Amino acid sequence: MAAARTTTSSELLLFAAAVVVLAAHAGAEDLVSQACTNATRHFCRLQLSKDSCASALRSDERSAAARDLRDLALVAVDLVGASAAAADAAVSAAAAKGGDAGTERSLQYCRVDYDDMARTVPECHRLVSRYDATVVAADGGWPSAQYYFGCVDRLRDAAVGCWDQVRNWAELKKAVGKEVRDVVQRANVAKLIQEQMLGTENPFESQHD
Ligand SMILES: *[C@@H]1O[C@H](CO)[C@@H](O)[C@H](O)[C@H]1NC(C)=O
Repeated sequence: MAAARTTTSSELLLFAAAVVVLAAHAGAEDLVSQACTNATRHFCRLQLSKDSCASALRSDERSAAARDLRDLALVAVDLVGASAAAADAAVSAAAAKGGDAGTERSLQYCRVDYDDMARTVPECHRLVSRYDATVVAADGGWPSAQYYFGCVDRLRDAAVGCWDQVRNWAELKKAVGKEVRDVVQRANVAKLIQEQMLGTENPFESQHD
């Protein structure tokens, strides 16, 4: 009888442990899910769906451990860097195959964009990692917030710059379109999640997508 009771209590313990693990997991997912719901509330703004936002963030396992919006914004910025590196590799491979002058020029332009991004991502990461809501609130929100907007918008402009080179060329689009489009999507995620972190949109941004 005593043995049976022991088994039962260790089963209960295991069950309790499983519940705790599941609850912790669900809590982390809730943050991603909630942040993406909030970030994509105005779908027409950057045409990002909640699901694309969430699946982009969840492609990095650190999102599951994110404690707050700053943690998620850091993941989002790093994802922009990873996708830009992948697109740069695809663009280099396409450039190595050669092509007409217009194609070559477009690919060269993309390489400049991705070089810029490779240098800017670590700067944005550093900036976001030092984000302190009380410091931003203390100066009324705008003077400090513009650096955050400026950094991520720079990434997004470069991402869109390459996409604009590629989108109207059927051959280029076939060769590198997916990778190049991915960078734009990730940049949109980073921009929208960072806005959630800051609690505001950039009041002076130039609208384009
Ligand atoms: C999402 O928005 C709601 C309502 O404004 C807010 O209460 C909640 O804290 C937000 N969640 C996140 C993760 O930003």
